[in-house]
Amino acid sequence: MIRLGVNIDHVATIRQARRATEPDPVAAAVIAMLSGADNITLHLREDRRHIQDRDLRVMREVIHNNLNLEMAATDEMLEIACSVKPDQATLVPERREELTTEGGLNIIAYHDVIANAIERLKAKDIHLSLFIDPDLDQVDISKRLGADAVELQTATYSEAKTFSEKEKSLEKLRAATEYAISRGLHVHMGHGLNYHNVQAITAIAGVEELNIGHSIISRAVLVGLATAVREMKEAMHQSS
Ligand code: PXP
Repeated sequence: MIRLGVNIDHVATIRQARRATEPDPVAAAVIAMLSGADNITLHLREDRRHIQDRDLRVMREVIHNNLNLEMAATDEMLEIACSVKPDQATLVPERREELTTEGGLNIIAYHDVIANAIERLKAKDIHLSLFIDPDLDQVDISKRLGADAVELQTATYSEAKTFSEKEKSLEKLRAATEYAISRGLHVHMGHGLNYHNVQAITAIAGVEELNIGHSIISRAVLVGLATAVREMKEAMHQSS
């Protein structure tokens, strides 16, 4: 069964809209886990636009064995991660001006920075995933740098406007998955997945984990978080 990591960042986005104390992403994480989430994913960004340092610390106390921290490979984030010790760290690119993470890491261009980050996180026994484009060279270097997993970005797939664009992006995801598995890497995917486009992704053999945020939290506003998480688990296991 493919694991579902629920990204709870946007619960914090609502709180930060008022700089208030509610809704608390920690409460959301507990409800998500009780409703069938396998992991909780959160992204502590440099500008602290949603998740705050306190959220990560409290989340670490409450969520056992299932905490995935998305983070940029900066000194500040590495210090925080090495002290809080999430179960898994997913290294992502980060630019202040972007609305959300916009593409995979370029581990060819940032080889040394990422190599250093991997070394520091793995020394703390943190499972290491790299968020990359479905590109065979990026998969190769991820393996050489010592990553445990790659999270293949599905933004290109989820934003495809035509049938043929969609098919082309799915083909890249399939090829990168097969290659990553042959190199001994675990394969995760995420970005832009929703209740309607997730089935083609779960149909790809070998994918172990999906990280999904915006569509689940959006549905949760209308139907409640427990229902939204349960419905996503159902959608993941419907055939495409
Ligand atoms: N995976 C990664 C690496 C991400 O940066 C994000 C967005 O924070 C997600 C998954 C979830 O994306 P979405 O909110 O579009 O489901």
